[in-house]
Amino acid sequence: MIILGIETSCDETAVAVLEGTGDPSPSALKLRSNIIASQIDLHSQFGGVVPEVASRCHVETIIPVMEKALSEADVSLSDITAVAATHGPGLVGAVLVGLSAAKALAVALDIPFIGVNHVEAHIYANFLEHPDLAPPFVCLVVSGGHSDLVYLKDYGDYHVMGRTRDDAAGEAFDKVARTLGLSYPGGPEIDRVGREGDPQAVRFPRAFLEEGSYDFSFSGLKTSVVNYVAKANRKGREISVPDIAASFQEAVIDVLVERTLRAASEKAVRTVALAGGVAANSRLRQELSLRAEKKGLNVKYPSPILCTDNAAMVACVGYFQAVSGKSSSLDLPAVPNLHLE
Ligand code: KG4
Ligand code: ZN
Repeated sequence: MIILGIETSCDETAVAVLEGTGDPSPSALKLRSNIIASQIDLHSQFGGVVPEVASRCHVETIIPVMEKALSEADVSLSDITAVAATHGPGLVGAVLVGLSAAKALAVALDIPFIGVNHVEAHIYANFLEHPDLAPPFVCLVVSGGHSDLVYLKDYGDYHVMGRTRDDAAGEAFDKVARTLGLSYPGGPEIDRVGREGDPQAVRFPRAFLEEGSYDFSFSGLKTSVVNYVAKANRKGREISVPDIAASFQEAVIDVLVERTLRAASEKAVRTVALAGGVAANSRLRQELSLRAEKKGLNVKYPSPILCTDNAAMVACVGYFQAVSGKSSSLDLPAVPNLHLE
């Protein structure tokens, strides 16, 4: 089976070709191409993603990216078994570009079309690199648009144990980076600059919310950093960007790791996984591994290129759907706030 995956939910135009033997197992998979055209340079002048600019750029880029994915995989359109595309959550105009391209291909080639949930796809990125990974496990999905703590009881059987009540984790990284004069996207910048800083330099607040809650809240932490910097500027006090970046990052990671490990203990799973753009954060990977291994838990996360938005993860969900004979109707809409459950 050869699955063409398409991802356009935010600011990456991505197409991937995934081959599989037809068995419903991650070990049956072989990624043949994974092309990502990032719009970061386009949006960085605005300090964040401008939805209308993103949609227009997807329209211009989708066909060349698709051609490159096919040629790198050394397949032609007639070899494709099914086409999968993100249908939400995401920016509606952006999602529509990839979704429409996928439906058009499905009609033209007379093959199944499969609509994919972007958050589920982030989780599935783990299966591309960890063939031994199998439910049940707990997965922390943290990106620019979502922060969800998900219990995967079985394939396709999800329980969202906690989610953010305000900003997503990546959004907080991006906003704090902007306050510190770092470029967009801020997550990788804070990760890089924070390595030179002292994570204990400033004790920023951790929002642990009500006892037993698995939800997150990052807006108070973000405001606290903004106020700290504004106060220092008012008083003419010099700030250490590496120290603040490291201290902010530590506050986010403390909460993320605590919640993930508590969820793993409640569900009595042996494995925890990371997914989404923030899962590329080196300190989060290190800290979760350290604390989870002390509890005898296995930790899985994808390579950084499969943490941030890509179409290989979309093709991966598409593959498992196709293998089980599932496909979507051609009138499946783009759903900006699509839920996992
Ligand atoms: O998954 P993704 O590409 O897009 C969404 O689905 O939202 O995630 C992008 C987010 C951005 O907020 C970016 O700053 C963050 O992931 N990010 C990171 C790192 N790399 C990307 N955050 C922290 N550390 C990183 N190394
Ligand atoms: Zn994403």
